[in-house]
Amino acid sequence: MKRYALVGTGGRGIHAYGRAIVQRHADTATLVGLYDRNPLRARYASHECGDAPVYDDFDIMLQQARPEVLIVTCVDRYHHEYIVRALEAGCDVITEKPMTIDADKVRAILEAERRTGRKVTVTFNVRHMPYVTRIKEILRSGVIGRILSADMEWLLDRSHGASYFRRWHRMLGNSGGLLVHKATHHFDMVNWLIEAEPKTVYANGALRVYGSAGPYHGERCSSCAHTHECPFYWDAAAVPNAKRLYLDNEAADGYHIDGCVFDPEIDIYDTMSVAVRYTNGILLSYSLNAHRPWEGWQLALNGEAGRLEVGEFYSGHAAQDPNQHVTLYNIKGEKIVYDIPKAAGGHGGADDRLTERLFGERELPDPLGLMAGSWAGAMSVLIGAAANRSIATGEPVDIDALLGEFARR
Ligand SMILES: NC(=O)c1ccc[n+]([C@@H]2O[C@H](COP(=O)([O-])OP(=O)(O)OC[C@H]3O[C@@H](n4cnc5c(N)ncnc54)[C@H](O)[C@@H]3O)[C@@H](O)[C@H]2O)c1
Repeated sequence: MKRYALVGTGGRGIHAYGRAIVQRHADTATLVGLYDRNPLRARYASHECGDAPVYDDFDIMLQQARPEVLIVTCVDRYHHEYIVRALEAGCDVITEKPMTIDADKVRAILEAERRTGRKVTVTFNVRHMPYVTRIKEILRSGVIGRILSADMEWLLDRSHGASYFRRWHRMLGNSGGLLVHKATHHFDMVNWLIEAEPKTVYANGALRVYGSAGPYHGERCSSCAHTHECPFYWDAAAVPNAKRLYLDNEAADGYHIDGCVFDPEIDIYDTMSVAVRYTNGILLSYSLNAHRPWEGWQLALNGEAGRLEVGEFYSGHAAQDPNQHVTLYNIKGEKIVYDIPKAAGGHGGADDRLTERLFGERELPDPLGLMAGSWAGAMSVLIGAAANRSIATGEPVDIDALLGEFARR
């Protein structure tokens, strides 16, 4: 029976990890401690996760609960602090994406892992989506030959996209912005599919729809004078999960999840484009928009022997299609379509597959390399961190310069 503790008992901590351990993996895993800066939310999480013990102090939790593995699901800016402290206390670590938010913190994690000899796992659930796993298998079969370039666009709709501008994510210092917080999934997916590492990054970013660009400014939806005319008004109290997890626990830290999307303090971008050159010469063009009429992504991979077009639609015109598709154009100009039935479950069926590998009875074979460590975590964070730096300076950014003593040359 492996002993797990968890820091950051918000939505992801409870739903993806805490409950998975107590409800599906109680034969092999036990939750020995919960810690959150908000003690009220930690107590609520305990109630949701088999009455797991709550600690008011993180280090005391490590000493007294003696976890073998720490699960990190707190606000992104603090991931590195807990990862390093847990490694130093002799634990292995499972951390949510993004592994952390900037280059200094990436190096601190890599250094602590090397020094302690313990292991960091980064949970890139996108890799575990059956659809994405199938794309990897098709690519591995060599149908498009050596990959030369990739084009990806990711669209967040005005419901999901706006949510990042209401919560802690809306400050670069908390999340690294969407180029780190959100795009870490996308960059990891591309890095993993093309089996390559980034070398240089150039980016542009703008805040066009949210933040001070907006027509109204309030503190939060629940106290706003513009609820009738604002297209982004959101009643958190009407969402039972939001009420129980956040509104009911505001007294402990004052944090609210219905902040005004037009707050002038917002400093992340809602419109972004990034160009990445990989060490093996592959070129990636990527864009991310947080205010589109439908949500989903499209990726085209151009190889010497053909082109693969893939993508998913989470909302809007094509969201009801029971199948997902992989379209191959081979070098003869033929079009071959693979239909892949949509999987049920959280994040396209990924979450349960991921937790089965993390907490399940036996270690599953992993020929596709679904499980990711700190290096993959670093590679995806550093594309976003380099993009943020490039936007600020107007210059391309070299990933090895960000890696410092961990540079590859
Ligand atoms: N892989 C995915 O699909 C996915 C989905 C959602 C969230 N996530 C990740 O999970 C993590 C949590 O996201 P969430 O949606 O649950 O956010 P959340 O806001 O619901 O929860 C974050 C929790 O961290 C706590 N916290 C903040 N600062 C802390 C500190 N210094 N020490 C301890 N606790 C602290 C908060 O009180 C809160 O309970 C993030 O890193 C996010 O990127 C991943």
